[in-house]
Amino acid sequence: MEIVDTSSLSEPSVAAGLAGGCGIDAVDFRHDFPALNQKIHGKPLVYLDNAATTQRPQCVIDEITRFHREDNSNVHRGVHLLSERATQAFEATREKIRHLLSAEHTHEIIFTRGTTESINLVAQSWGHGNVGEGDEVLITEMEHHSNIVPWQMLCERQGARLRVAPITDEGEIDLEAFERMITDRTRLVAVAHVSNALGTINPIKRIAAIAHARGVPVLVDGAQAVPHMAIDVRDIGADFYAMSAHKMYGPMGVGVLYGRTELLDAMPPWMGGGDMIKSVTFEKTVYNDLPHKFEAGTPNVPGVIGLGAAAGYLERVCLRNIAAHELGLLAYATRRLHEIPGLRIIGTSPRKAGVISFVLADVHPHDIGTILDQEGVAIRTGHHCAQPVMKRFGIAATARASLGLYNTTEDIDALIRGLGRVREVFA
Ligand code: ALA
Repeated sequence: MEIVDTSSLSEPSVAAGLAGGCGIDAVDFRHDFPALNQKIHGKPLVYLDNAATTQRPQCVIDEITRFHREDNSNVHRGVHLLSERATQAFEATREKIRHLLSAEHTHEIIFTRGTTESINLVAQSWGHGNVGEGDEVLITEMEHHSNIVPWQMLCERQGARLRVAPITDEGEIDLEAFERMITDRTRLVAVAHVSNALGTINPIKRIAAIAHARGVPVLVDGAQAVPHMAIDVRDIGADFYAMSAHKMYGPMGVGVLYGRTELLDAMPPWMGGGDMIKSVTFEKTVYNDLPHKFEAGTPNVPGVIGLGAAAGYLERVCLRNIAAHELGLLAYATRRLHEIPGLRIIGTSPRKAGVISFVLADVHPHDIGTILDQEGVAIRTGHHCAQPVMKRFGIAATARASLGLYNTTEDIDALIRGLGRVREVFA
């Protein structure tokens, strides 16, 4: 994966020029997203809460509606045409995601409810057989709760130890400390690709190389990375990669676990039910092959088909275009935010995706969010499901603006004007 140093980018127009090799040069995609075309409290909506969830393009909405109107049927079960069409669209998404992640095999793509479920699947299935008493799971101080709690639960159950690699004041993983913390008892490294609270893009390729040199597999929480950059799971060395559709312009309630064949093959199923079996008797059940072994029960078929449409959309827009556009916008937003007296950005790594957390003097982040909402500007405030990160920086919460492919410099200008309003109210 190419990591762009955002400190070298200044304005969106400069960044847009970086996006060579893609079919589309324009960076204005707002018209594809109907939800953006509305007023909030009488002001045009400025949506800057993309790390929580992105908006959906019309093509995703249309594809889900088309499924319900024309193909609605269960998958892998029917010999009738509707079921065949549903199965075909469902499995076509698996191939699209394989391509999106540059995985080797389509059967390495497991559909789940989202990143959280993907990580829990690994913790419960892989963890049970591979993490025992006295073993260690190594995470980092910047993880989202979904990449902390499943490992904590596993460690409690197995008598293992959760270890936490520290982060620097800039919000980067302290790689020397991380390396020192890999011991003969480390069974797994679990790390975010992009921090949802800080925006830091972690050097996964380097982290995986360090872990692999000690024979330790790596799970990557890719929820915040997939919408922002091209991912190649083999190049970066991810043994497992978890992602959510709704953060990449697809629907909620569906996501993916990528796992290397060798690891997935050796793992037991984590849920039992229909579709994950080859044969069942009261004496013995023979489990299905990958990927179905991990997909018990009727899946979220429209969700998966919507995910396929979102993956197709990203491919058409081109992730290199998106990365360049968002990084230029990030540089612009960072510069403008620095002009506001009393504003402190939390997470100042030069390698960031479009996530900017900040505090403003002693104004509570919820007050910032409420006043901005009155101005039509949607951001997230709070601990961002990353309480240990907040503790690391000695704060309870931040305000967070997070960028998507449809955001513009005008959106950032609206945010800055809104923050001016916050300062007036709290002057
Ligand atoms: N994990 C999502 C966020 O960061 C919900 O907002």
